[in-house]
Amino acid sequence: MSANKYHQERLERPPAPPGCPVHESWSPLDDDYLAEPYRIATELSAEHPVFYAESLGYLVVSEMAEIEAIFTDHETFASVNVQDPVFPLDPAAQQVLAADDFDPVAVMSNRPEPDHGRIRQYTRQGFSNRRLKTLEPYVRRRTHELIDSMTQTGSPIELIEALAFPLPGETVFRFIGFPESDDELLKGWCGDRKAFSWGRPTGGEQVQIAQNMLAYWRYCRRFTASKRAERGDDFASELITAQEENPDDMTYREVESVIYGLSFAGHEAVTALICNTLMCILPRRDVWAEICANPGLIPNAIEEVLRYNSSQISWRRLTTKETTIGGYTVPAGTAVFLNFASANRQSDVFDDPDRFDIHRVNANRHISFGKGVHYCLGARFAKFETEIVTEILAERLPTLRMVDHQVFSYFPNITFRGPNELQVAW
Ligand code: HEM
Repeated sequence: MSANKYHQERLERPPAPPGCPVHESWSPLDDDYLAEPYRIATELSAEHPVFYAESLGYLVVSEMAEIEAIFTDHETFASVNVQDPVFPLDPAAQQVLAADDFDPVAVMSNRPEPDHGRIRQYTRQGFSNRRLKTLEPYVRRRTHELIDSMTQTGSPIELIEALAFPLPGETVFRFIGFPESDDELLKGWCGDRKAFSWGRPTGGEQVQIAQNMLAYWRYCRRFTASKRAERGDDFASELITAQEENPDDMTYREVESVIYGLSFAGHEAVTALICNTLMCILPRRDVWAEICANPGLIPNAIEEVLRYNSSQISWRRLTTKETTIGGYTVPAGTAVFLNFASANRQSDVFDDPDRFDIHRVNANRHISFGKGVHYCLGARFAKFETEIVTEILAERLPTLRMVDHQVFSYFPNITFRGPNELQVAW
C-alpha cells in the first residue's frame, strides 16, 4: 500500500494510555451530541480535558491550548488520518476502491511535511486575493439569480436546496475551472464524501459513495488532461503551468489529486456555514436589523458564527512517535480527536462563551480553520462567500426569518455540522 494513499483504513488503534480516563459510551455520532455538541462537549471537557473514547478508539483533546500545541507540532502529530474512514469499510466498497486506476495521492490536508509544504507553495498561489477578486462578480451574480428563483417560487422555502448547496458548489467549480455544463454531475458525485470519511454509512451506501469517488477521480483526470491541452483563467490551469515549470518539485499526479480534494473541501462546509450564520442571526431580530442597517458588521459576525456554531467542530491527528498528551504517555499511532466544539466555547478564552455576540473583539480567536502548516487554505474563500450571501440577503430580503417550530436534524458524522434542512420565510 502506498504511504501517501488518499484514504486509508488505519484500524489498529492503541488502547487507552495508562491512567487516562476512558469514556465507554460517548460518541460524536450520538443523537444528543449531534443536536447539542457545544453543551455536551463543554461538560465532557470539564470532567476530563483529555479522555479516551472507546467507541472511536481516539484520544479526545478538548482544550484550546492543547489543541493549538498539537496543531503546531506537525512532526509529532501528523495529519495523515484526516481523510480516513473512521469505521471499517465494507468489503464491497473496498473492492470498488481497489480499481487499478483509483490512485489519488495525499496532497494537502493529509500529506505530511516536507512534501505538504512543497506542494502548498504552489496551491497557495491559486488562493490569491486576485483570484478571489475575479470570482466576486460570479458569486454576486449567482447569488442574485438564486434569490430571484427563490422569490419567484415564493415564501417559505427550503434554503439549502434553493441557495446554500448550489452556490458554494458552483463557486468552487468555477474557481477550479470545471465547465458549467458539468455542475449537476459534479454535485451528485461530491455530495456524500463526508459520510465516507467522517460518518458511518451502511455497506450499500459505502458502495455508492465509493463508485461516486471513483467516477469523480476519473473525471478529475480527464479534466486535468483537457486543461493541460487548453488553459483558462482558473486554479487548475495555474497549477498545471506551475507543475510544468517545476517538474522536479511537483508531480502531475499531485496536480490531479489537489483538484480531486478541493471540490469537497470547498463545498459543504460553506453550505453549512451559510446555514449556521442564518440560524444564529435570524432569530435574534435586533442583530439582523443591525446587520441590515450596517453590512459592515457582517465580517465579524461571521467570525462569531465560526466560533459559536461552526461548520467544522473537530479535526484529527495521528502521533508519529511516543509523546505526552494532557500528561498521559501515548505511543506512536495514537489517533487524536481535536474537539473544536469545547475549545470554541472555553470560558478562559472567550468571555461569556455561550453568548452569540457579533461585536465580540476576539471572535476570530476560534480554532475552526485549524492552525499551523495545514491552516485552512480556503478560510478567506469561505468567509468571502458567506459575507456576500449575507449581505445580499440583508439588502434584498430584510424581512427574512426562520420558519417557526422547525426541528433541525444533522447528518451523523464526527466533524461537519450544519442542518439537513433550513426553512425560511420573508
Ligand atoms: C467554513 C468553511 C471551512 C472550514 C470550517 C474549513 C476548515 C478547515 C480545517 C479545520 C482544515 C484543517 C486545518 C489544519 O489541519 O490545521 C482545513 C484545511 C483545508 N481547507 Fe478548509 N475549511 C472551510 C472551507 C474551505 C474552502 C472553501 C476551501 C477551498 C476552496 C478549503 C480548502 C482547504 C484546504 C485545501 C485545506 C488543506 C490545507 C493544507 O493542508 O495545507 N476549505 N479547512
